[in-house]
Amino acid sequence: MAPIPFDCLILAAGQGTRMRSRLAKVLHPLCGRPMLWWVVEAARAAGAARIACVVRPGSGVGERLPAGVEEIEQRVGEGTGAAVLAAREWADRERPLVLLSGDHPLVSAEVVRALVAEHAESGAAATLLTSDELDPSGYGRVVRGADGSVERIVETKHSEGVPDEILAIREVNIGIYAFRPEPLFAALERVREERGERYLTAVFPLLASAGERVAAVPTTDVAAAFGVNTRVDLMRAEAVARERLIERLALAGVTFEAPQATVIEVDVEIGPDTVIGAGCTLRAGTRVGSDCRIGPCATLERARVGDGVTIEHARLVDCEVHDGATVGPFAYLRPGTVVRAGAKIGTFVEVKNADIGERAKVPHLSYLGDAEVGADANVAAGNITANYDGRAKHRTVIGPRVRTGVDTAFVAPVTIGEGAYTGAGSVITKDVPPGALAIARARQRNVEGWVERFHGRDDKKA
Ligand code: UD1
Ligand code: CA
Repeated sequence: MAPIPFDCLILAAGQGTRMRSRLAKVLHPLCGRPMLWWVVEAARAAGAARIACVVRPGSGVGERLPAGVEEIEQRVGEGTGAAVLAAREWADRERPLVLLSGDHPLVSAEVVRALVAEHAESGAAATLLTSDELDPSGYGRVVRGADGSVERIVETKHSEGVPDEILAIREVNIGIYAFRPEPLFAALERVREERGERYLTAVFPLLASAGERVAAVPTTDVAAAFGVNTRVDLMRAEAVARERLIERLALAGVTFEAPQATVIEVDVEIGPDTVIGAGCTLRAGTRVGSDCRIGPCATLERARVGDGVTIEHARLVDCEVHDGATVGPFAYLRPGTVVRAGAKIGTFVEVKNADIGERAKVPHLSYLGDAEVGADANVAAGNITANYDGRAKHRTVIGPRVRTGVDTAFVAPVTIGEGAYTGAGSVITKDVPPGALAIARARQRNVEGWVERFHGRDDKKA
């Protein structure tokens, strides 16, 4: 069967006041992507011919629309009906118009496809999806007539004055509809405001009295039905989205030791036989190979990690760690860092914009910034690159097989030649030739008998 062409209008201009936020509700992130992004993805995957979003001018939503999504501003009126009316010019009268809410981030392509098929088959003026598997508070309750058709929808966002028999209805409107545009807009123009809002759901009795059919189809997709109005709703929706991401990776061979204590975003790839320990945060754009041991307690943001890598108690941002390397515990890899195969970044080490060569070791208490460390070099405890002279950043080059002493400071720009050594406590300000030993510290002087004399003076005072 050839797919039915349809357009998709996403409502995203609500005030969302119950989020108690300066950020527009539909921009609140769910697993690393704005709520609205998820809805756009579902519309796309379902095959929508055109997608537009109704946004509030000045809300910041228009600026964040994904490419290819058209923007329609809701400049007049409040409420979902006013939002749809803003799209009157945009709507193509020849095609079914699917309405989605920007605050139903877990809507799926399957639900949209099924709705469009149902709508085409029934020939109704409107087809809406319902659910009786949610806590119905706050949702519009579906009042059906004796023949099962939709009579009206009673809003319960403000439940005072709503009769008990209506509040007892468990079937709710989930806010996902397909309409024939002609009767929709004709009815919408006749909808009057209630509490300063024009309710989209007020069109149903008008359609029915104009002799049009309104079909209501229950869906079993509870997640798609779930609307986000508060941050509690957002947490619940995100928990579902996160569980789906984790399950997909687990089925592909990844072990999660503490799935409930793992934060993961979309666009994260992990290879098989990798173990993710408790307390890990894996942000969008992160890639981890196979046979790795990540965590406990590692935060990876756009990190590229090879195979067989161990990372424990660490934070990695915009960096690369190649096969067989180890990082942490307690390490911070900042943007521009490359840790090559088999290298080791140890405890309390910070690395920024630096290239750590194959099998090189930086085991303890060091800061390497704007640096290059050659293969098989060993950077001893407490080494620091002084990369900033107060005006500009400079590079430190530590050659292959170099052995530095503890507490070496490299005043950049400076180069340590291949295989050279530095003495403990040296402040290296000049280049060191290959194979040399550089010592740059004051010679030790012992003052014989000094302690005795010092205390003798104290005794006299007393
Ligand atoms: C709406 C439905 C309700 C349904 C529920 C499902 C109406 C009147 N009520 O209620 O029957 O059970 O969704 O979740 O439609 N929006 C605009 N412009 C506005 C107001 C809202 O674009 O002026 C957008 C919002 O951004 C949101 C969507 O429309 O994405 C729904 O608005 P919201 O205020 O959350 O409606 P509900 O009270 O949840
Ligand atoms: Ca809502």
